[in-house]
Amino acid sequence: MYKTPDLHSPLDSGATARVREPSMRRFADADEMISALEPSYPIYCLRPHVLADNARRFVDGFPGRVMYAVKCNPHPAVLHHLFEAGIEHFDTASLPEIAQVREAHPRAEAYFMHPVKSRAALLSAAKVYDVRHYVIDHADELTKILEAVERRDIAVLVRLSTPGGNALFELSDKFGAAPAEAVELLRAVHEAGLETGLAFHVGSQCGEPAAWSTALDIAAQVIGAAGVPIGYLDVGGGFPAAYSNHDVPPLEDFFAIIRERLATMPIGPDCIVMCEPGRALVADAMSLVVQIQLRKGDALYINDGIFHSMSEPAAAGVQLPARLIRPGGGVAPGMVEFTIFGPTCDSTDLLPHKVALPADAGEGDWIEFGQIGAYSNSMATRFNGFSSDTFVTVNSPPFRPVLRN
Ligand SMILES: Cc1ncc(COP(=O)(O)O)c(C=O)c1O
Repeated sequence: MYKTPDLHSPLDSGATARVREPSMRRFADADEMISALEPSYPIYCLRPHVLADNARRFVDGFPGRVMYAVKCNPHPAVLHHLFEAGIEHFDTASLPEIAQVREAHPRAEAYFMHPVKSRAALLSAAKVYDVRHYVIDHADELTKILEAVERRDIAVLVRLSTPGGNALFELSDKFGAAPAEAVELLRAVHEAGLETGLAFHVGSQCGEPAAWSTALDIAAQVIGAAGVPIGYLDVGGGFPAAYSNHDVPPLEDFFAIIRERLATMPIGPDCIVMCEPGRALVADAMSLVVQIQLRKGDALYINDGIFHSMSEPAAAGVQLPARLIRPGGGVAPGMVEFTIFGPTCDSTDLLPHKVALPADAGEGDWIEFGQIGAYSNSMATRFNGFSSDTFVTVNSPPFRPVLRN
């Protein structure tokens, strides 16, 4: 028999003090940082003003509530700046993420959006951290929630699978109920006396605004067939960022198509519409500075790679904008397409694409990679003893790719 320990919430004490910004060294740009630190280790250059601009763009433009997907970049400074810019809802996938959000920002709300949760995590989420929103994609998960969570003032959102093919990272292969199952799950949540909701995720780095109207069409059929009141409609994340090999429409095109389709959804005026972006809020708010440790012909060996900040170039072929930095020194004319190896002993630790840099790039030079705010530090391992965990802030504009069209 599963037992409920007697827990006291550290947040019950009305902890509302304003949380201080995590302290980090500040520089005008990556060049100034390199001149000051001459780092032989990788450095993340965070741009708080870009986080604030991105947050405002979502809060002002998206027709509903904006939740930040913490998994994308959980650095405390990222959460801090997004919160300060008006994002007070956080999509969390685990108890540590919930704890991080709720302890650093007691006024923020954490949503437990992972469709598979342990009983212990459910118990602590509800009792210690006051979490009131959960996701399921299977009837047994609803049973688990009903058994592990005593309180009944909660909402359970049913994750619906959507057609794939539009995104670089498909998410419906692993999670999501088929429409007919989703109908049954919505009814079961309602019959259990809980507030209902429907959620989907079209996949990460989705460059097709039409993917949301297709998903919303399916959601409309599910809601119509279920015939129960819908408290929440969550259109997920997936909003794309620009990479050197991936041009994307402006965010406003996505918001417009969602707004248009929402106008005819079978939901009441009280239904809360939500989105849960990660990548589009943070990708261009951070760059990474690495140092070249050795040159062998047209190959450069650097101090970060696919086991650390650059797993996405390896997993999905995204290409990051790159520039050489050599403070106080000129570079040779002409560019060379270099192979870039990461620091570990594994021969797969290399970027799958070549990187164009000045022809005389070599040991001791630095490279800045842009658009690396999403799924970089959050995915990094400590393989071979290498780690990338030094952050500074810079005031410079985002280092975005120059795209041909
Ligand atoms: C449930 C859920 N919500 C939100 C996100 C964030 O997606 P993105 O960074 O593509 O916006 C993810 C990413 O995996 C996810 O699994």
